[in-house]
Amino acid sequence: MAPVPTKPAAGRGLLRFLTCGSVDDGKSTLIGRLLYETQVVFDDHIDAVTRASRRHGTTGEDVDLALLVDGLEAEREQGITIDVAYRYFSTARRKFIVADTPGHEQYTRNMATGASNADLAVLLVDARKGVLTQTRRHAYIVHLLGIRNVVLAINKIDLVDFSQARFDQIVADFTAFAADLGFAGVVAIPLSARYGDNLTEPSPRTPWYDGPTLLGHLETVPVGQDMAALPFRMPVQWVNRPDLDFRGLSGTIAGGRLRAGDPVVVASSGQATTVARIVTADGDLAEADAGQAITLTFADEIDASRGDVIAAPGARPEVSDQFAAHIVWMNEAPLFPGRPYLLKAGTRTVTATVSEIKHRVDINNLSHLAAKELQLNEIGFCNLSLAAPIAFDPYEANRETGGFILIDRLSNATLGAGMISFGLRRATNIHWQALDVDKQARAVIKGQKPGILWFTGLSGAGKSTVANLVEKKLLAEGRHTYVLDGDNVRHGLNRDLGFTETDRIENIRRVAETAKLFVDAGLIVLVSFISPFRSERRMARDLVEAGEFIEIFVDTPIAECRKRDPKGLYAKADLGQIKNFTGIDSPYEAPENPEVRIDTTGRSPERSAEEVVDYLRARGLVA
Ligand code: ADX
Repeated sequence: MAPVPTKPAAGRGLLRFLTCGSVDDGKSTLIGRLLYETQVVFDDHIDAVTRASRRHGTTGEDVDLALLVDGLEAEREQGITIDVAYRYFSTARRKFIVADTPGHEQYTRNMATGASNADLAVLLVDARKGVLTQTRRHAYIVHLLGIRNVVLAINKIDLVDFSQARFDQIVADFTAFAADLGFAGVVAIPLSARYGDNLTEPSPRTPWYDGPTLLGHLETVPVGQDMAALPFRMPVQWVNRPDLDFRGLSGTIAGGRLRAGDPVVVASSGQATTVARIVTADGDLAEADAGQAITLTFADEIDASRGDVIAAPGARPEVSDQFAAHIVWMNEAPLFPGRPYLLKAGTRTVTATVSEIKHRVDINNLSHLAAKELQLNEIGFCNLSLAAPIAFDPYEANRETGGFILIDRLSNATLGAGMISFGLRRATNIHWQALDVDKQARAVIKGQKPGILWFTGLSGAGKSTVANLVEKKLLAEGRHTYVLDGDNVRHGLNRDLGFTETDRIENIRRVAETAKLFVDAGLIVLVSFISPFRSERRMARDLVEAGEFIEIFVDTPIAECRKRDPKGLYAKADLGQIKNFTGIDSPYEAPENPEVRIDTTGRSPERSAEEVVDYLRARGLVA
């Protein structure tokens, strides 16, 4: 993806906008024509496009202006644009940066990332099709992103015979839908991007329309938020320490204005100092604004590192490990509460889970629905819980410090985008209670190293049988142990949970937290759960210290489990009497690097247990 341009700094001379619409709404043609009409396209590029459009031939002998915009050959062939591209153009009155975001449903991702610093959104509607679900989705996301200026570009007006009635109908539909979205103004314009009607010149073919042309409107619309007027914020990107004599904090100003000598605080610790110097590659500055990349030095030694936020003392950001936020989910695999993700806010990255989906938004009528998960393109209002506190502002107050993305912990793919609404008070009122007797003391008196033996594998693999024997052997050696078994725990603590993906994730979260408490009690705890998902086993591993988590993969092939079928469950699942059965219609993700792997096929449970104990012996965990 193209880097988001931070220069030139926002001002009245610059308008950032984005365009959104469905695949065939003519978005690329529109941008192509704006570039063409404002003369930023060079002649040789036009020649190339003329040749390309003959080859790809969607407009006959006319130049296909969409080809000026669609960068990649592969995209052209598919007829869709697949990433955000930033285009620059200017007129005598203003400079423009346009984020060209794709229209296909599954590319909502790019729309959310492209929109984060836009002043205005152009929503494209095909005059023949009118307001679609996707138009509503885009309008809602534009609203969430805090963009208050909207142009409803009713394109292909030539294909409905320049009908005023059709235009009025679409405007009425959209206005009814958008009434509660708080847009400062919706300007509707009848357009033909292909032929240029009402783009830069009023069209003689829409005599009934007396509003502005698209370019005319873009040139004159008042631009919104002035980032420099906000309270000062600088997320620390890195500690700049070229030699022993210099130590500065580098980052890009995410809000406000700063002068040398100004007082500042580190948001998380509250540590206060004053700015000594504002250093840049081009020398020191007396003053710097939102959008500028700078290095700060201070009057006092202060403790700050990457991810901290330097802020104005009188208007500090919130610091919390729990908050409520809207999330736009952009991944094929759904968002599940309880599943750990990486949350990246500014320069800070921490592990986070959605603790609760308060509601999901029905994009057609903006009503609130109950939801246990968020599917691709769905938008939910959620509570999030983070592994460590972060400094943030409500998105409404500052788009830079109030926005975040969620990332997959294994693949690093972006999964969703979020906008923070408010910190949760309960987080600030609950503090960890320090106790005088700690894990170490409890373990020492038992003469052992505490830890988790985590047995994972299919139903009928032999997890519980082996765990039971291992516990007997440990007990015989005088170890203090406890077994947490899936079937047993599901009778009590987890009796409210079934076997959907959501419920299994919660099942493992609870048992992992319980196992962690037992480790804190100084015990060796044996966990015997199918625990089919890598993500949650990893979460369990991360709850305890390095070396305390031992993953034992009871790798009995499904054919063998089926043959044993100790509870008759495979037979029932085959008859369709049990749904979501692991290995049949619910997945099992095998461990990639378990500490111990045992196949119980043709091997006595006794020998399997011995293998586990051998491993513990080799690690010095038992004598
Ligand atoms: S887990 O997937 O959430 O880790 P857990 O280990 O707690 O599962 O429970 C699995 C046990 O529940 C199995 O041993 C089996 O006895 C029983 N069971 C009932 N329905 C199912 C099902 N649909 N899939 C797997 N196990 C099931």
